[in-house]
Amino acid sequence: MRVHGAAASIKVPTVSTSRSNAPVVAVVGSTGAVGQEFLNVLEQRDFPFSNLKLLASARSAGKTAEFKGKKYTIEELTESSFKGVDLGLFSAGGSISKKFAPIASAAGCTVVDNSSAFRMTDGVPLVVPEVNPEAVKGMKLGKGGIIANPNCSTIIMLVPVTPLHRAATVKRMIVSTYQAASGAGYAAMQELEQQTRDVLDGKPAQPKIFKQQYAFNLFSHNSDMYPNGYNQEEMKMVNETTKIWGKGVPICATCVRVPVMRAHAESINLTFEKPLSEKEAEEILRQAPGVSIINDRANNRFPTPLDASHKDDVYVGRIRADLSLDGQKEYGLALFVCGDQLRKGAALNAVQIAELLL
Ligand SMILES: NC(=O)c1ccc[n+]([C@@H]2O[C@H](COP(=O)([O-])OP(=O)(O)OC[C@H]3O[C@@H](n4cnc5c(N)ncnc54)[C@H](OP(=O)(O)O)[C@@H]3O)[C@@H](O)[C@H]2O)c1
Repeated sequence: MRVHGAAASIKVPTVSTSRSNAPVVAVVGSTGAVGQEFLNVLEQRDFPFSNLKLLASARSAGKTAEFKGKKYTIEELTESSFKGVDLGLFSAGGSISKKFAPIASAAGCTVVDNSSAFRMTDGVPLVVPEVNPEAVKGMKLGKGGIIANPNCSTIIMLVPVTPLHRAATVKRMIVSTYQAASGAGYAAMQELEQQTRDVLDGKPAQPKIFKQQYAFNLFSHNSDMYPNGYNQEEMKMVNETTKIWGKGVPICATCVRVPVMRAHAESINLTFEKPLSEKEAEEILRQAPGVSIINDRANNRFPTPLDASHKDDVYVGRIRADLSLDGQKEYGLALFVCGDQLRKGAALNAVQIAELLL
């Protein structure tokens, strides 16, 4: 197992140290980019467990991985994998979740799913713990049920935007993303590295995962296009925000894949119903859970993907009034944010959801 440096901002939950009644945990997709991060997060947060199952495809079955100093053998995911399992952390893709999450739930395993399979399904909570923890009220580990983890770009946007929305009510949002390779899994990270080497060696870049050259380039997000001219990733940000906030807000999103290895960035423009100054917004964000500020105008120092990589918090900076609005009858702010989408955008958010159910 890859172990990354522990982030200073990691908050260790105050859960019982007794392991006798602790849940049996299964990580589905444990060899993947998110799956590996699940193991890091579970270890760093000292998540209680009485047994751990590492599940992946037949390709990985029999390989071993280490967790908390103990060796575990990776098992092939099958329909009988969930007997006696209380918590299933899923990150093996939408089709695997569609098939196996209901099977797991029927066996009494409570599923927290990282894919998009159930996000918009009625009755399935879509949760960012800092935003809508009440959505999982009444659910318990070991009692079945499926909870969906939102899309990584949605989570990274809503962690800082929700406290501002609570203060001044967002009435319109324009967001542009700069999304890292890690958001598309290990193979995409390898593709960026290989293409970068090849181009520097004077060889042609060979696109495999993405259709276009990735190294020294950027392109519109690789998810499917809809007839309305938006891609799937952009519409996820729109539709998931409506479900999480319980209220539709007009959002215009542009999602772009950039040649950054890890951590997404977003430029966010907000129009509010009520006035909110730069100073008030920064103060609100300083108090907000899951947010760190890097907003040093004097030194032109603001969040970068490297600042956010392997960290729990979403980093916010460039907090400034929107000069295109008059500030008298129309109020707006612009922000630049960076968040590690393998952690807060995926594994960390899912483990935080599970902690709500302990
Ligand atoms: N990457 C992100 O930032 C991110 C963020 C939010 C959500 N997600 C979602 O999380 C999921 C995984 O993403 P990832 O980036 O971790 O992808 P990845 O690096 O490609 O990993 C995929 C994982 O799924 C497993 N898998 C594939 N086919 C399987 C099968 N038939 N049975 C059991 N396991 C199977 C793989 O196991 P093998 O190694 O054995 O093939 C591997 O562990 C996707 O649904 C993705 O949309 C990703």
